[in-house]
Amino acid sequence: MDFIPVNRPALIGSEKKYVLEALDSGWISSDGPFVEEFEQKFSRRVNRKYGIAVSNGSAALDIAVKALGISTGQEVIMPTFTIISCALAVIRNGAKPIFVDCYQDTWNMNIEEIESKITSKTAAIMPVHIYGLPVDMNPLLKIAEKYNLAIIEDAAESHGQTYFGKPCGSFGELSTFSFYANKHITTGEGGMIVTDNFELAEKCKKLRNLCFEPEKRFVHFDIGWNYRLTNLQAALGLAQLENLDNSIIRKKLLGQKYQDLLLNNSLLQTPVRSKDGYDNHYWVFGVVLKAEHKKNAAAIMKSLNSEGIGTRPFFWPMHKQPILNEHFKASLPVSEMISEYGFYLPSGVGTTEHEIETVVSKLGKILS
Ligand SMILES: Cc1ncc(COP(=O)(O)O)c(C=O)c1O
Repeated sequence: MDFIPVNRPALIGSEKKYVLEALDSGWISSDGPFVEEFEQKFSRRVNRKYGIAVSNGSAALDIAVKALGISTGQEVIMPTFTIISCALAVIRNGAKPIFVDCYQDTWNMNIEEIESKITSKTAAIMPVHIYGLPVDMNPLLKIAEKYNLAIIEDAAESHGQTYFGKPCGSFGELSTFSFYANKHITTGEGGMIVTDNFELAEKCKKLRNLCFEPEKRFVHFDIGWNYRLTNLQAALGLAQLENLDNSIIRKKLLGQKYQDLLLNNSLLQTPVRSKDGYDNHYWVFGVVLKAEHKKNAAAIMKSLNSEGIGTRPFFWPMHKQPILNEHFKASLPVSEMISEYGFYLPSGVGTTEHEIETVVSKLGKILS
């Protein structure tokens, strides 16, 4: 029996050709033509003027927070149900993340909780589109405008997705993406910051490159990182970008297949299919065990693993992180519940429909 991994990327376009081109050209570091081409084509695809390719999505967030000048004494409001990269980007820059809970149905940040968390220290809101469904951006944009707050949009999981026709990644002062192997576009490891603001784009470029000065290269006026993306990775990304529309079609098809097969399963909450103005791209196919089922996600995932099926747990809420929670004692019950009872099933761009049928059949037996 072959193991069904939680993700299988599809490298079925010009990936090999472009990577070999990069190798043959000798441009293997970040100084190479594919980097700029990837930045230009990707930023255009999400309707942005500038793209700054970086080594991963976490690095993109570190840079975005710093580029906006957010630092000690300031706060950034974000969902507790997200990856730790969001909180760490704020903490590493000396500021404090302030967490809000998520909605029970969409698992996205609860917009109604934001206003009560705004203080004189709030500098920005960081919406994070979770698991393939966009955050309800219109009310969030209104709040940001009312209080004059910046938006750092984490679109790591939302390549090619739209909200009322506008691309995810086109909302914040700065928006960020990840190109990790489980994303719709992968460069193995990689990320991108996009913006329409020339000054911010220049700042991000500098921060990704150790704040080298054009005139006096080894004299530094600020603290940056080596967060560069290589030409080899950008070559891969360019080929992946060419196939983005097909990858989205594929992900949606796999998501629908799960939805149809799980339709009559009363023990599981499945993802929201669509909302007015946007639909689910099923970056991952998450399920949450309902209360009637006595076991938690870890127990079911263990059984699935022994049946040859890979899964991943949901994010563990930020306010419950051992490394952070000394400072964050809030109770954010929806996130706490879904992180205990939620997990996601195999659904990479390269996952087959037959594999999904196998997953659902085995899951059904384990749950019964
Ligand atoms: C919402 C979100 N933000 C940021 C990241 C971090 O991206 P990376 O793994 O490329 O550092 C991820 C990774 O999956 C993510 O899901």
